[in-house]
Amino acid sequence: MRLNKKTLSTLMACVAAASISFTASATTILKLSHNQDRNHPVHKSMQYMAEKVKEYTHGEVKIRIYPNGQLGTQRESMELLQNGALDIAKSNASELESFEPAYGAFNIPYIFHDRDHFYRVLTGQVGDDILNASKGKGFIGLTYYDGGARSFYAKKPIKSPADLKGMKIRVQPSPTAVNMIKLMGGSPTPLAYGELYTALQQGVVDGAENNETALTNSRHGEVAKFFSMDEHTMIPDVLVISEESWNKLTPDQQVAIRKAAKESMLYHKDLWTKMIAEAQEKAKTAMGVSFVKVEKQPFIDAVKPMHDEALSNQAIAKYVKEIDALATN
Ligand code: GCU
Repeated sequence: MRLNKKTLSTLMACVAAASISFTASATTILKLSHNQDRNHPVHKSMQYMAEKVKEYTHGEVKIRIYPNGQLGTQRESMELLQNGALDIAKSNASELESFEPAYGAFNIPYIFHDRDHFYRVLTGQVGDDILNASKGKGFIGLTYYDGGARSFYAKKPIKSPADLKGMKIRVQPSPTAVNMIKLMGGSPTPLAYGELYTALQQGVVDGAENNETALTNSRHGEVAKFFSMDEHTMIPDVLVISEESWNKLTPDQQVAIRKAAKESMLYHKDLWTKMIAEAQEKAKTAMGVSFVKVEKQPFIDAVKPMHDEALSNQAIAKYVKEIDALATN
């Protein structure tokens, strides 16, 4: 969904009017926007968090979730949030890179060696430091949600970087993602997620990259029948809250929200394992998508300079070193 300025400002006014409302019984309602559907694991995990917030605050704070990008794209949600017109947004570290460079550390291809390494980072000090890095910029991070490994999908298999030559590949609006596709030899095309189904269908792009829920929940598997498992990145979704909304909460409510958010990350870990297996099965059997095994080394070699450059990039070098130090293999 692309909104023009007028629609966006009307939308902002509506959201502003209804945001962080206090009812007669002093219940605080926090509005949460995200771009996935109601059956997506991340939606379910945020519902779990909302239940826990209600429980831990004895009903003083409630979270109302708006899925499907109904309040705008991820970028628009971040803008609403920074303007105080929205309380909470579920975004992605890739998209957030333009709002807080620290998130760029997550976007370096092959920085994570495996899922355990990924979780050691998310649950460790470096994960917390990145969530707090945006303090003073209008928002702070609350927690991460596993987004699996991202691989290429298209109308043909992509078995080596050479196969990307001449292909327009949709990426999230992130400088690191753009650079990654260039180094691999394809033509990067940043687009909002909500525009991707039509773009694939109409040939505006030749392929994209994501986890398996893109094939099923977002139905991209109807148009792209080959998922080539190069697993170039593991980029978490990130839950962020506006500082304005955060500062209106009592210290007890803040503690309750942090606790619920962290618990929902672990709830999501198991849910993701289960639901991603279901998504793969559905994509294969009901949608006819082929899962293609690829030799990863040529992809790893193509993007190696990105890791080296990150180590001399002041904005992220510290985080990259800390992430590297948590690898055990
Ligand atoms: C993932 C992520 C979304 C993001 C999407 C994308 O699916 O959960 O938050 O928008 O990737 O590629 O844009």
